[in-house]
Amino acid sequence: VATEAELRRDFKQRYGRRATPGVLAVEREVCGANVGANGYTTIAQAGRLARVLRLRPGMTLLDVGAGTGWPGVWLAGNYGCEVVLTDLPASALRAARRRARKRRVSRLCRFAIASATQLPFRPRTFDAIVHTDVLC
Ligand SMILES: C[S@@+](CC[C@H](N)C(=O)[O-])C[C@H]1O[C@@H](n2cnc3c(N)ncnc32)[C@H](O)[C@@H]1O
Repeated sequence: VATEAELRRDFKQRYGRRATPGVLAVEREVCGANVGANGYTTIAQAGRLARVLRLRPGMTLLDVGAGTGWPGVWLAGNYGCEVVLTDLPASALRAARRRARKRRVSRLCRFAIASATQLPFRPRTFDAIVHTDVLC
C-alpha cells in the first residue's frame, strides 16, 4: 500500500508529463472522449453518476481526487452544478483549471489541494460527492 507521500510523488510525475497521441487515443477508446481522465471511468458511467445523484444547477458537488478535472469539470459543463475539485498534486489542479476555462465552466468550478483523508470542509457543505478511480 502506497503512503500518501508516495502517491503524491507518483501522480505529480504522471501529471507533469504531456499526454501523447497514443495516450489520448486510448482515453478516447476507453472513456468515449478526451475528458482528462486518468482512470477508466467512462462518459456513460459519469452520466450515470449524474443521474443517480440528480445533479442540476444550484447543487454543489465535491469531486475527490479529481486529477486533471475528470469527471468534475465535465459534470459542471453538462449538468450545471457547482463543483469543488480536490486532489494532492498542484499540477493536476492547474490542468483541471485550464480544462474548466476551455469548457467555459470556470464560474462553476473551484479547486482545492486537499487530502481525501482530511478534507477541509464543514459538514453539509456539499449536496453530493463523487470520486472516480480513487483508492485511499
Ligand atoms: C487514478 S487517478 C483518477 C483521477 C480522476 N478522478 C479520474 O478518474 O481521471 C487517482 C487520483 O486520486 C488522487 N488521490 C489518491 N489518493 C489521494 C488522497 N489521499 N487524497 C487526495 N487525492 C488522492 C491522486 O492524486 C490521483 O489524482
